[in-house]
Amino acid sequence: MTTQEIASRVNDLISQMTPEEKIAQMLQVSYANCTREEALEWARKGAGSFLHVLGDDAREVQRTALQTRLGIPVIFGIDAVHGHCLNREATIFPSQLSMACSFNRELVKSIGRATAKEVAADGLHWTFAPILCLGRDLRWGRVDETFGEDPYLSGELGAAIIRGYQGDTLDADDSILACAKHYIGYGDAVGGRDSCDTEMTFRKLRDTFLPPFRKAVEAGCATFMTSYGSIDGTPFTVCPKALRDILRDELGFEGFVVTDWDNVNSLVNKQFVCEDVAEASVAAAKAGNDMMMRTLEFYDAACQAYHDGRLSETVLDEAVRHILTIKVKMNLFEHPEKNGDAGWIGCEAHRALALQAARESIVMLKNENQTLPIRQAKKIAVIGPNADDIRTQYGDWTYFTHPHNDPMDIEPQRPYVTTLEGMREAFKEAEIVYHQGCAMTASQQDDIPGAVEAAKGCDAIVLVLGDNVYLAGEQKDRADLSLSGRQTELIRALSQLNIPLTLVLMTSKPLTIPEEAELADAVLFAFNGGMYGGRAVAEVLAGRVNPVGRLPITVPHHVGQVPAFYNALPGWHGGKYVDQPEAPLFAFGEGIDYTAYQHSHLAFDPETLHLSVDVTNTGAIDGIETVQVYFRDVVASIMTPVKQLIAFEKVALAAGETKTVSIQLSKEDFSLVNAQEERVVEPGRFVVMVGHSSKDADLLKYEFVL
Ligand code: NOJ
Repeated sequence: MTTQEIASRVNDLISQMTPEEKIAQMLQVSYANCTREEALEWARKGAGSFLHVLGDDAREVQRTALQTRLGIPVIFGIDAVHGHCLNREATIFPSQLSMACSFNRELVKSIGRATAKEVAADGLHWTFAPILCLGRDLRWGRVDETFGEDPYLSGELGAAIIRGYQGDTLDADDSILACAKHYIGYGDAVGGRDSCDTEMTFRKLRDTFLPPFRKAVEAGCATFMTSYGSIDGTPFTVCPKALRDILRDELGFEGFVVTDWDNVNSLVNKQFVCEDVAEASVAAAKAGNDMMMRTLEFYDAACQAYHDGRLSETVLDEAVRHILTIKVKMNLFEHPEKNGDAGWIGCEAHRALALQAARESIVMLKNENQTLPIRQAKKIAVIGPNADDIRTQYGDWTYFTHPHNDPMDIEPQRPYVTTLEGMREAFKEAEIVYHQGCAMTASQQDDIPGAVEAAKGCDAIVLVLGDNVYLAGEQKDRADLSLSGRQTELIRALSQLNIPLTLVLMTSKPLTIPEEAELADAVLFAFNGGMYGGRAVAEVLAGRVNPVGRLPITVPHHVGQVPAFYNALPGWHGGKYVDQPEAPLFAFGEGIDYTAYQHSHLAFDPETLHLSVDVTNTGAIDGIETVQVYFRDVVASIMTPVKQLIAFEKVALAAGETKTVSIQLSKEDFSLVNAQEERVVEPGRFVVMVGHSSKDADLLKYEFVL
């Protein structure tokens, strides 16, 4: 269908709709929060969308909607944020933070593609992903959902997964809508406190937080979700500057905007900026929210406001136009249910992809005395609360965590492989002894002496520590980022044995582990690796897989250093605390593997902005280096970051091989947002930096004038 045909079909529908039908179209009903009868009643009224309903229940809602006067199909949304994980049969991929360690656009796009197929096969149309908030305050409970702390990396991977989710055309049977969320600034609430105010100016918002969302629009992202947060006291839900001026007029977004969970009621009872739900409904609609998630009261309130003249038909028409345009583009009127193939859900090909993703998301940060790979071990101790815990390995937003209350009440569904199981697979010749050692929170079952006893006489210890699903997620912010319970005592006791000790951090986000990293001979970050996370860890420990992941996020020594992101503005005293080391424990972009790389011959042409660098694999095995390019604007009208990532390329190198990597930069890459909130390139001196990580010691530098 041409754009004109779509528009005329939408206009035709709008011309037939009553104000009540338009208001219903703007409503998204949470199936889990009403009875089946109530849900069907909402479908009869013409509710535009439902969330969190699967299979036959969804089909019944759809049938009901299609029998209404105009037969406008319902659009079904779900949080399929790292796979279609609320369906227990589906493929569970690593969390967004884990996949970001891969720095691999193609891989991330493939995960989007696979997820879309599985969601579509369930008759659903829309995932509330990707999350483009930045993970800059590690206390925040939802850092695991981000692609890390960096705007460039988040934008690149966000755009890749959006292309994966949506495919080439929205009307394809294996295409689902993506949703760029949470627009905007949600991850940067004061103190890492979920949904609190964001101490941010619009200049900073445009400079740092907008770029990933801009890339989402460029990638064709069909929907956006308004965040819970606020900017300098104005809730984003009622912020036309963010939702209209920037998103629509400047970025050119043409899809529809859905609020986050109950944002409209929250204007009344959480943010206290509206007297009642009618005032909130009018304000939210006028500000540019097209669809209201979960707030059923919106319907009566908006109808009332329409009839007493506070809500105009123009506002309703605009919102409904955005929603119906997407429904027409998806071809929902002809095919309300995608003809997905049930065989896609959890299929072999997707599981193989989950394993590949898990492999690429492991980051090795220390390997002293060639502790790894583990060789010729006859007996290996696998210890720790996360060594055999599939719930942590999965992370948040799976059938364990949503919509149920206690993950322990839910039975795990095979197939999956924990680290313990992976070790048994990978080290068939060795004896594997297992002991939990301690729980995630101190408990009577903790048995550190028992774990030490089990490890005695072993040739290697693999200790899997971290956090779990009770310590991360929405409403689970942390004030303390050290290892919980008696995990530190456990590593102290085991390290006394003088057996080569590998610490595997299976965690939703970086934890502060300076002592633990010191005590261990080798350190791996495995984050939430998904269904085959444990197998991937074991393959790395056995040396079958080279861990080529790099950190998408900074690891500080102490929670008091948060935020610790690398692309900070300069300060007079270097931002140093007297009681902590200046450099982070592990830096953004850092990661070692079983070989080593050297960068040389950096060449940069300030005329063409073309950059090239030679990269050599100096080790004895094949590897993949992530070449990272940063820049700094030396003197500008406004303070600019000490360095900022502007490009990265992965390059596969056989042992001993050298390749010239060439990267074309654009003028825009060297831009800043000035005090007038304009994105500009200010002529003057710049430095480009190229190398292995964000650490100065890892970077070649070249200064030039633009
Ligand atoms: C609230 C969360 O903030 C959002 O990320 C999610 O998509 C919605 N709930 C729907 O579950």
